[in-house]
Amino acid sequence: MSGVLVTGATGTLGDALVDRLVGDGRRVLAATRRPDDPPPTPEGDGAVEWIGLNLAEGRGIEAAVADANTVVHAATAPRGDAEAVDVRGTERLLDAAEGAGVEHFLYPSIVGVGEIPFSYYERKREAERAVEASPVPSTILRATQFHAFVDEILGAVARLPVWPLPTEFRAQPVDHREIAGRLVDRLAGGPSGRADPVGGPAVHTLGELASAYREARGLRRPIVRLPVPGAVAKGFRAGEATCPDRAVGTVTWESWLAERYGGSTDSAADRAGAPSR
Ligand SMILES: NC(=O)c1ccc[n+]([C@@H]2O[C@H](COP(=O)([O-])OP(=O)(O)OC[C@H]3O[C@@H](n4cnc5c(N)ncnc54)[C@H](OP(=O)(O)O)[C@@H]3O)[C@@H](O)[C@H]2O)c1
Repeated sequence: MSGVLVTGATGTLGDALVDRLVGDGRRVLAATRRPDDPPPTPEGDGAVEWIGLNLAEGRGIEAAVADANTVVHAATAPRGDAEAVDVRGTERLLDAAEGAGVEHFLYPSIVGVGEIPFSYYERKREAERAVEASPVPSTILRATQFHAFVDEILGAVARLPVWPLPTEFRAQPVDHREIAGRLVDRLAGGPSGRADPVGGPAVHTLGELASAYREARGLRRPIVRLPVPGAVAKGFRAGEATCPDRAVGTVTWESWLAERYGGSTDSAADRAGAPSR
């Protein structure tokens, strides 16, 4: 039985993808740069084989795709060398996938990568173009920022006595488990080119997200508006990273916070992974 290759399988989205695929009884080829120290295998009827892959160095690529009929390419380097990993790495992976006869290449991307001139987003857009130009049948699914990502950013700021934040930035965070679910659902439908984007249930300002986060953690630090000049900030303020007409995620920021930090929940987080439309 050929398998589903998940690149970036140790990451936020990749981990949820492996969970979901194993739960669905799939054979998963989970790729990481450190296959000797894999995370625990999730429960389910499927199976996981951890394999070594370094997209920046071009190591393990042919072997990774050799036994895969489908690739979900979730490896990325937002804080590292995105040119080497996201652009050149994606091109190398596509070449190998073509050679191996991969039937479906799913690529998660981000809402706003074509509009906001942020360097990581520009690299993601280049990678999207490579996916579209490749003869390998593909699906590109753009999603808004993950709750986990917003949580991580605010967690870093929370160490400061005062929280300087571009409070007017707009975001529409979504539960990454719902995005994993949507990607896995796409396997059954086959390659579909550019899919409708997926956003979280509501658009918020970063100030609103930070206030709710502060309350959920029982903190009292002042949030101070940080003016940020430039085209990138303008794009985030204008809501270019949101898709209010595709607010199809069901897990709110408040229920994510309640699940993570305790407190009341509307239980939507418990239903993550079961997208409704
Ligand atoms: N985060 C968000 O808010 C968000 C929103 C929308 C879409 N997305 C997209 O969703 C996808 C996954 O994002 P994420 O936030 O889940 O990523 P992440 O948590 O940062 O994980 C990145 C993964 O990439 C792997 N990786 C890094 N460098 C590599 C290399 N040189 N070769 C092979 N693998 C490498 C890492 O694996 P090892 O360290 O184990 O090798 C890790 O598992 C990306 O395409 C991202 O653009 C993210």
